[in-house]
Amino acid sequence: MAFGIGRTIRRSLGIKKKWRPDYVGDNVGVRRKNLGFMSEPSFASAWERAAEGNRPAWDGRVKDVRWRAHTAVWAARHGLLLPGDFVECGVNLGALSMTICHALDFAKVTKTFYLFDTYEGIPDDGREITQSRNGSLYFDCYALAEKNFAPFPNAKLVKGWLPGTLDQTSLDRIAYLSVDLNHADAEKAVMDELWDRLSPSAIVVIDDYAFATHEDQHEMWDEFAASKKSSVLTLPTGQGLLVKPA
Ligand SMILES: C[S@@+](CC[C@H](N)C(=O)[O-])C[C@H]1O[C@@H](n2cnc3c(N)ncnc32)[C@H](O)[C@@H]1O
Repeated sequence: MAFGIGRTIRRSLGIKKKWRPDYVGDNVGVRRKNLGFMSEPSFASAWERAAEGNRPAWDGRVKDVRWRAHTAVWAARHGLLLPGDFVECGVNLGALSMTICHALDFAKVTKTFYLFDTYEGIPDDGREITQSRNGSLYFDCYALAEKNFAPFPNAKLVKGWLPGTLDQTSLDRIAYLSVDLNHADAEKAVMDELWDRLSPSAIVVIDDYAFATHEDQHEMWDEFAASKKSSVLTLPTGQGLLVKPA
């Protein structure tokens, strides 16, 4: 089905023929929206530090995932009000989590941020890290990730394959959870372990939920949410939000 906007609809909405978005980034284009979050000082400076720390993961460039980072900071800020720690499954160099740590001044927060990753790429179904799945996207980045999170002694990098590494920590209650493994089976295994540990009303940020070509993850998350009598909110960034029912 084509979703192009017809001339009559364009006219009735007051949209000019040459529709140009005011902001484009990360495959999202918007027009006539208040994007104040991007220039809000604590977010803007947190994002700048995260972007610098993530250049090696982005071939030396900056990938404008600010809106995704904004979603993560918002959900984590909500988590500050809840019992439990913060968790990210799938960290790499930590674009989302570094933005959170800087924006929330996490070193002063009396919580631990558990950062789970192989820090060397995505294990495939044969349980090995192969070139075919990872291409040149991922490399051994543990030392760089350690450097990125060095200002935050309460951010703990946990290196190894999920879900096996979850029980290598004293992780109990969870106030904020980000899942970004790019792998439906691993994400399901992690959620089966972590759902009961989430505090009521805690938010799960699902990074790839509505990404084209990630349909297996979309299907898995919809089934998982339905099994908890809930559903996932699709965001224009491609992220999904799932709230632990109170
Ligand atoms: C898209 S990246 C995460 C990006 C990150 N959230 C950010 O903000 O920059 C996906 C990560 O998931 C990790 N990963 C995938 N499957 C994993 C598994 N089974 N165990 C541990 N890490 C895994 C990969 O190593 C990779 O770093």
